[in-house]
Amino acid sequence: MKIFSAAQIKNGDLFTIKNEPIASVHLMEKAAMACTDFIHHKYLKTQNILIFCGNGNNGGDGFAMARLLYQKGFDVDVFIDKSKKGFSKDAEINYHRLKEFLGIRILDFTDFNEGFINEDSIIVDALFGTGLNRKIEGEIAKIILKLNPIHVHKIAIDIPSGVFADENIPENAVVFKADETLSLQFCKQSFLHPEISEYCGKIHILEIGISKKYIENTETPHYIIDEEIVRKIYKKRKDTSHKGNYGKTCIVAGCFGKIGAAVLATKSALFSGSGLTYILAPKCGYEILQTTCPEAMYLYGGEDFIKNFTVENDFTYGIGPGLGTDYETEEKLMHFLKNYNEPLVLDADALNLISKNSENLNLIPKNSIITPHPKEFSRLFGESKDSFERLELAKSKAKELGIYIVLKGHHTQIITPEGNVFYNITGNSGLAKGGSGDVLLGIITSFLAQGYSPENAAIFGVWLHGKAADFTAEKHSKEAMLASDVIQHIGEVFKYLQK
Ligand code: ACO
Repeated sequence: MKIFSAAQIKNGDLFTIKNEPIASVHLMEKAAMACTDFIHHKYLKTQNILIFCGNGNNGGDGFAMARLLYQKGFDVDVFIDKSKKGFSKDAEINYHRLKEFLGIRILDFTDFNEGFINEDSIIVDALFGTGLNRKIEGEIAKIILKLNPIHVHKIAIDIPSGVFADENIPENAVVFKADETLSLQFCKQSFLHPEISEYCGKIHILEIGISKKYIENTETPHYIIDEEIVRKIYKKRKDTSHKGNYGKTCIVAGCFGKIGAAVLATKSALFSGSGLTYILAPKCGYEILQTTCPEAMYLYGGEDFIKNFTVENDFTYGIGPGLGTDYETEEKLMHFLKNYNEPLVLDADALNLISKNSENLNLIPKNSIITPHPKEFSRLFGESKDSFERLELAKSKAKELGIYIVLKGHHTQIITPEGNVFYNITGNSGLAKGGSGDVLLGIITSFLAQGYSPENAAIFGVWLHGKAADFTAEKHSKEAMLASDVIQHIGEVFKYLQK
């Protein structure tokens, strides 16, 4: 699914109005109708709805919704800033239409007090949408600060007021805090960044009929990984195939006390379809690995396992989980990287070792995939002030080094060397535990070994990992689920894709 910038969203409205064609006031009616239908289907008519409207088109959406909800039988109050003169053209039309409905009270922000609220009330924010172009101040800021602490359900129309569609909010900004955001037609890029997502609550994308032609023909570097993308990537196994068709995955992981990381990565590779799976791990892990992962081949039993880290060109390597960061391991890893030119996957201690010297970055083979969490990312590339700046830095580094960066987090981002960004929306906070990254490395390495392109291996791997985690959380809860449980649910995801 494409993600558009604020300017592209505005152009989408204009293109639709011109080419469908549809009058802008009718497009506003469709937006209001989509929001009204959502509320009508989900909430009871006994719930009173308080709609706070701005003077632009987002306010216009709010006026039209007020009328439509009232016609459906809801009790509706509308609040505006009466000290501010003038509405946008379509908001003005809807404001006048609203005045014909005498059952709807139109009040000033300053009239609002908690006497309007009962426990079933719903507050609707139609103050600002994508047209916000500066910090909110004055009467609107005051009313938002009054509304935020009230404990009733809150819904934002299109965007929580104060949030920009494609950038961070400024420091000390006043922002409406929603429980749900009804995002019209498109998910906004900022919603997928942690600084903003806490203001959005649950996001629902409501179709309002923006031109399909516009959506198809408008280029963007930003995408959400949806099922359509994943189903196009996923290759079913052929009935006539044999183990040689599904690659040779080699997991290089583990040190004393961290053999579990090697187990998790190896099992994940096995569970995600790897044809032949090898483990290069220290001797202390031999018995554990042969017992827990009998389907995988253990490569070396020396004390200094990494000494045998020689290049096998038909292996696809996933290196890093629990590897340790001592000098000897660093030397061997760098020696290996100097002699290996195929795409591989690097995580955890492999990244920590690389970050010891910025020149090491140039040793990463082109088209490799690195999977840092924000701390590992900053060790590699330096600090960023927020996740938006981090994304820009990741774009420039992915391009400069010719690699794929999987920036792990709430909505993991996959950044390609061409500058495209794929946001993942599967997964949950049950993954915020040690071991999750080891599982991800195993899955992605296995996909790379099976012949998926680095881009597809990263996209598919991240999505599948999150989806398996969602299935796991349903059964075990986010609190109690373990990385090993996620591995056990990988099969369920393949079955889901085969339906
Ligand atoms: N403080 C005070 N005023 C501000 C601030 C601020 N911090 N930031 C922006 N403004 C002003 C802007 O200058 C602008 O005023 P102006 O038009 O006089 O210049 C106004 O507030 C912008 O208000 P918004 O309601 O946020 O923006 P806009 O009018 O562009 O509407 C929209 C946004 C279209 C409602 C969008 O969020 C949306 O929902 N899109 C889905 C489609 C839709 O509903 N379309 C509506 C009909 S079609 C059409 O609008 C062309």
